[in-house]
Formats: sequence, structure tokens, C-alpha cells
Amino acid sequence: MTGKLIEIKCLTVRYKDEGNVIENLNMHVGYKEIIGIVGESGSGKTTLIRAIINLLSSGGEIVSGEIIFKGEDISKYSKERWRTIRGNEICMIFQNPGSYLNPIKRIGSQFVESIRSHIDISRNEAIEKAEETLRRMGLCDSFRIMKSYPFQLSGGMKQRIAIAMALAMEPKLILADEPTSALDVITQVQIIKELMKLRNNFNTSIIIVTHNIGCAAYMADRIMVMNNGEIIESDYKENIIAKPQMDYTKKLLDSIPELEGH
Ligand SMILES: Nc1ncnc2c1ncn2[C@@H]1O[C@H](COP(=O)(O)OP(=O)(O)OP(=O)(O)O)[C@@H](O)[C@H]1O
Ligand SMILES: [Mg+2]
Repeated sequence: MTGKLIEIKCLTVRYKDEGNVIENLNMHVGYKEIIGIVGESGSGKTTLIRAIINLLSSGGEIVSGEIIFKGEDISKYSKERWRTIRGNEICMIFQNPGSYLNPIKRIGSQFVESIRSHIDISRNEAIEKAEETLRRMGLCDSFRIMKSYPFQLSGGMKQRIAIAMALAMEPKLILADEPTSALDVITQVQIIKELMKLRNNFNTSIIIVTHNIGCAAYMADRIMVMNNGEIIESDYKENIIAKPQMDYTKKLLDSIPELEGH
């Protein structure tokens, strides 16, 4: 792994009524690297990745620090410049991605619109790309899905469609916030494998936030453990699993049945 795709230096983020929830945080993601961020509820995982993609919820702001992506500090980008990289070079898969679909538009038309707002291709090419990405996500009946409205599809299908819409852009960096937590185990595995394939096929780097240190251990190269807005432990996953340093990390590992015995 050579070089850094993104480097975060001394990042401090605050919410108006809450004060600083992330303070002086440093981290980087290498090219083709998958980082798993774990930590309990409220530890600042969502805040961190929303800060990276400049989509903090209301009242949230970056107080100080730098976020260097391909040599530029994207935390200082204007709204207009963000439009050229968000959803394109850096994309976010939200905690409940299915809920971001437009309920009154067929999947096909919103998928095609989303692709064409980022890539300069014809309608037919976009349809082809959309259908192909759906099939890659295990949604074989892509023709029917393209004609459906969200209410005609199951929750798991909607989630996979929303993820497919992000993956279709083949971004350089994917930020995924608990992308599979609402899905059944088989679908979860399918999506995780799809994300891992993306790294191999398109050199994509990924930051995945999860409550499940087992999922992070499966997917990630390095694991970062957050607590109270800080990264309290960060290492290659083999080291974290074999020799967790912090009591907090040990507790997280102990709470995952699949990892017992490691
Ligand atoms: N819009 C907001 N306004 C004020 N405070 C917020 C806001 N969003 C988050 N916070 C606070 O920031 C801290 C970090 O929250 P965040 O959502 O980043 O945690 P998380 O690790 O993603 O938790 P979870 O695992 O439950 O998703 C918490 O103390 C939370 O209360
Ligand atoms: Mg969160």
C-alpha cells in the first residue's frame, strides 16, 4: 500500500449546542485501503464521516483541521466545488440508504438521473449501466426493478438499490455508515462482498462505520476504535484482534460471539 488517498489532520468538529464532539483527530486512508471504524453509539463515527464529505447535520461545523484529498484541503471547498466531487469521487452510503430514494419516481428514472448528473453519457447507456450495477448487487430482476416505484419493493431491495446508485459512479472513496445493519445476514454478506470487489476491481478506498467489530474484522485492513470523539486505538486488524490494547476494544471483541476464541 503506497501513498495516502485521504489524510485528516487535527480535525475538530462541533455542534452548536453540544460543543466539540471530535477533537484533534488524525487519520489517513491509503489507496485501495479499507478502514473499519467501530465504537459505541454516540462516539462520533457518523460525525466524522459526515465531516469528511461536508454534509454535517444542522448545527455541525468543522472548527479546525485539514482534510487532504488528492493533495487538496477539501474541508475548505466551496459548495460549488463540492458538487464536482461529492457522489462522484467521494460518495456516502447512509445508515438507511433506502430512505433516500424518491418515493414518487420509478427506480429507473431516478437511477438514470443520478448517473447522468455525474457522468456525461446517453440515456440508454445510463440505463444499461444502472441495470448492470443492480445485477452486480444481486438484484437479478433488474428490468422489473427499474420499472418499479420504491413502495413496490422490500426494504432490503431498496437498500441494495441505493447502494448500487452510489457504486455505479465508481468513486475513489466510499464512506459507508452502517450500510448493512438493517439487512438480513445473507444480504449483508452479499453487500460486503460487493464492496470488497469494488476495491479490487476499481481501486476504491473505503471507510466503513459499523457497530459490529466482526464485520470490520472481515472487511477491513485496519480497524480504528472510536470513543468519545477520539480514535483510541488503530492498527492492522490482525493486531487489534490478537492483541487489543485498550479495555474498551477488548470489551467490543468480547461482545461478538463469532470472534470468541480469537
Ligand atoms: N445534529 C446534531 N446536533 C447536536 N449534537 C449532535 C448532532 N448529531 C450528533 N450529535 C452528537 O454528537 C455526538 C456523536 O454523534 P454521532 O452521531 O456522530 O455518533 P455515532 O458514533 O455515529 O453513533 P451511532 O453509533 O449511534 O450512530 C453525540 O454526542 C451526539 O449526541
Ligand atoms: Mg452513527
